[in-house]
Amino acid sequence: MSDPTDVPEPIDLPNDATLMERVVNLSKRRGFVFPSAEIYGGFRSTYDYGPIGVLLLRNVKDAWWRSMVQLRDDVVGLDAAILSPPAIWEASGHLSNFTDPLVDCRVCHERFREDQLDDRSTCPNCGATDSFTEARQFNLMFKTHAGPVESDSAVAYLRPETAQGMFVNFANVLQTSRKKPPFGIAQMGKSFRNEITPGNFVFRTREFEQMELEFFVPPDEANRWYEYWCRTRLQWYLDLGIPEDKLRLRAHDPDELSHYSSGTSDVEFLYPWGWGELEGVANRGDYDLTQHANASGERLDYFDQAENSRYTPHVIEPAAGATRAMMAFLLAAYSEEEVRGETRTVLRLHPRLAPYKVAVLPLSKKDTLTPLARDVLGRLQPWFMCDYDETQAIGRRYRRQDELGTPYCVTVDFDSLDDHAVTVRERDSMAQNRVALEGLVDHLRDRLA
Ligand code: GAP
Repeated sequence: MSDPTDVPEPIDLPNDATLMERVVNLSKRRGFVFPSAEIYGGFRSTYDYGPIGVLLLRNVKDAWWRSMVQLRDDVVGLDAAILSPPAIWEASGHLSNFTDPLVDCRVCHERFREDQLDDRSTCPNCGATDSFTEARQFNLMFKTHAGPVESDSAVAYLRPETAQGMFVNFANVLQTSRKKPPFGIAQMGKSFRNEITPGNFVFRTREFEQMELEFFVPPDEANRWYEYWCRTRLQWYLDLGIPEDKLRLRAHDPDELSHYSSGTSDVEFLYPWGWGELEGVANRGDYDLTQHANASGERLDYFDQAENSRYTPHVIEPAAGATRAMMAFLLAAYSEEEVRGETRTVLRLHPRLAPYKVAVLPLSKKDTLTPLARDVLGRLQPWFMCDYDETQAIGRRYRRQDELGTPYCVTVDFDSLDDHAVTVRERDSMAQNRVALEGLVDHLRDRLA
């Protein structure tokens, strides 16, 4: 049952700054992402995830965990500490190598990453020419002190990547999990980088979330697994609804490679400003385990009983950003359509990612409908993340759910009191079906699986 005049006409949106602006506005207006410390004027490219954003971000991370850990028998999880001692970062190479080239404009005193300047002779802020200082290497790690004394021996760092927690726990995990190479350790969580030029909404921030896998393999299998993870990670974004023409794999040129990598490919997304990194898949060789073994004096290798040989596994690392991926999913899902001469904004998010799966909407706020509507909500909540909304006209409530990306709205009307059925409206087609209350959970579960 759908109203034939409701057939949506897609509006072609340009993939440019205006799209970014629409997504940023929607994020603020609907409670996805707020600028941090806004009542104090904001805090330098830092963001808070609101009631809807926290659900979306959690769903992105759950989808990653599901595909990387739950659906595999060769990957286990870890949640390592964020605060870490200098020894880790000395051994990993971050203390000496995790730097960006920083230049200052002598005229306006603005600072830039030299490698991100389009024209190295002109300041993009004040227009001065030949005003930059010599580039100096700026370490991106946040330094702090653990404990009450700010002495050198108390120095600690906020991790700039989750990866090292997995390398330093390699022996612990190997012993306790009974895995053997090829096997992986997966971790999601916050990382911190004192980026010189954060920006483009949550694309580059100083505090962000990563989702990383360290996959340990016999050295002669490294290339095969590298190819495997490149393909698998690209497919993950496709399966969750990012269109093929907005994704690509790009192999790094030799001069782009990180200090540890013998080969890296980026999964790239077509952002409103052009192609850019979404996730990196790196062949790290035995760099990390060897570095930590040498620095700590601990044995970080594997004894293959069948072959009676000992080797240091090589590591393939698919490293994704959860917050950056969330932004890419939002950009790819954002659409506008014309319906009955009005513009409808819809987030066509994959149901697995949608913040709310179902919204329960009593047709009117009248007391006669509330008990049944609450009963319907109670039936659905154990299965799905639900919203409940009884304010405003039903049309406006549908539009709000469209903007949140809710795949199904369940409307309880006066007929529901007699026929024990509700109207289920589908987000993308706006088609409406009458569904008996008894079969409602199954009806939705089939469609949301
Ligand atoms: N362990 C390897 C590693 O951290 P990376 O390419 O520096 O590799 C992996 O980071 C992913 O983390 C990036 O592809 C990106 O999605 C995300 N990321 C990195 N820096 C970020 C930042 N400042 N803000 C948001 N996301 C970031």
